[in-house]
Amino acid sequence: MGRILAVTNAKGGVGKTSTVANLGAALALEGKSVLLVDFDSQGSLTWHLGYDPDDYRGLSIYEAIIGKHQLPDSMIETKYAVHLVPANLDLSAVELDFLSDFMTDGVPWQSRLRQLVYDYKEYYDFVLIDTGPSFGVLTINALVAAEEVIIPLSCDYLSMRGLGQLMGVLRKVKDRWNQELTIAGVLATMYDGRTKHSREVLQETRKALAGKILVFDTVIRKSVKFQEAPLVGEPITVYDPGFWGSKSYRKLAQEVIDLDKKGR
Ligand SMILES: Nc1ncnc2c1ncn2[C@@H]1O[C@H](COP(=O)(O)OP(=O)(O)OP(=O)(O)O)[C@@H](O)[C@H]1O
Ligand SMILES: [Mg+2]
Repeated sequence: MGRILAVTNAKGGVGKTSTVANLGAALALEGKSVLLVDFDSQGSLTWHLGYDPDDYRGLSIYEAIIGKHQLPDSMIETKYAVHLVPANLDLSAVELDFLSDFMTDGVPWQSRLRQLVYDYKEYYDFVLIDTGPSFGVLTINALVAAEEVIIPLSCDYLSMRGLGQLMGVLRKVKDRWNQELTIAGVLATMYDGRTKHSREVLQETRKALAGKILVFDTVIRKSVKFQEAPLVGEPITVYDPGFWGSKSYRKLAQEVIDLDKKGR
């Protein structure tokens, strides 16, 4: 049976989408079957993998979530051995739809994504869900659907401060709707070892979470290559396979796979 992971942090621009795209591609290189779900109306994951979100109007995660069609109707078989469910701006209408009595199938608002993706545990080793920078209804849906969470944390002080709030939200979701939710780990991103600030934030984070929450050994360093890859619609492992950043995401894939072997 596969694993469902949400990549989340309400802080914007910390590397959530990059992590879903690059970890997804890296897991596929390890021979894993992978489904990526873009659950952010910005459609950044869709862009990152080389697809224009607007081309998928009427065929995105939005139509699946409101029950207009089935999930496979909106799946793209990408060139990178991962399947992708795209998103676009239409997804932002979901909030209104949830508030209206538009949906009459009895599935509660917070469980709609879970209801869509849960069965795919049978067909994929990994289902990775990208979330947007908020704790709104979309992110809550992703956290109810997920069994595990990866938290990208950019190595700066403000990000570190936001971690406590995020933990609080995760606890609430777990208590109310999803008892099986666990934190797979915190992933340090945008690390710049030349600055004292980056080094201190990483050190402090490891110290504060020691014995409680895993901080992955893999650290994603800062590089402009991570900005270039989405421009050509490629995961970093395809854009430049020999680059240290590609190796980092492949190492992260191994760490994520090994978590399962440890029988968590
Ligand atoms: N390790 C890195 N080094 C430098 N730039 C990076 C790195 N990882 C991602 N980026 C770039 O930083 C920006 C934000 O990354 P990304 O879109 O992955 O963050 P996000 O958390 O998904 O953002 P949002 O909250 O808007 O969804 C992008 O331009 C991305 O290409
Ligand atoms: Mg994003």
